[in-house]
Amino acid sequence: MSEKISVMISEEEVDARIAELGAKISKDYEGKTVHMICVLKGGVFFMCELAKKITVPVTMDFMSVSSYGNGTVSSGVVKIVKDLDDTIEGKDVLVVEDIIDSGRTLSYLLENLKNRKPSSLKLCTLLDKPDRRVTEVNVDYTGFEIEDKFVIGYGLDYAQKYRNLPYIGVVELD
Ligand code: IMP
Ligand code: MG
Repeated sequence: MSEKISVMISEEEVDARIAELGAKISKDYEGKTVHMICVLKGGVFFMCELAKKITVPVTMDFMSVSSYGNGTVSSGVVKIVKDLDDTIEGKDVLVVEDIIDSGRTLSYLLENLKNRKPSSLKLCTLLDKPDRRVTEVNVDYTGFEIEDKFVIGYGLDYAQKYRNLPYIGVVELD
């Protein structure tokens, strides 16, 4: 079985949209420091590129979560595999994700982070598949809303591969 990749969102389009999001975030956080929290591993490419486009002070931390379940469907019970290094109490936190699918992971994570008393808590995702939503999640910044297809690239993987593609692609198996 071979894997064929087709481009869904080009590198130029992704980069342009990230620049727009960076400008909007810089405006919204004027006079503040954005404490960006990357959800590993998928969010890492997006967070780095986004951070480069933000003009207010930025600090960063990283978190890794995995959902219990049968592997293909997220169960909504999330295990924190790597927690944050620093406290977020009193900070203006911006969670940066690659994609919101069912919304289960993020709704758990946001609830967990809210309990740590940040000064504010917002969510920025590169991609959103609204048709797949099972649990409601309030998304503050979205790069692109996409149809229900399995996508790869810009941090997103298929069996841990393709994260390094500079565009968003779709895998076709034939
Ligand atoms: P959910 O919103 O809890 O269902 O899970 C979202 C997570 O599932 C994302 O952070 C991704 O790691 C993964 N995921 C969902 N859709 C895709 C996709 O199309 N490609 C790659 N990973 C995906
Ligand atoms: Mg993810």
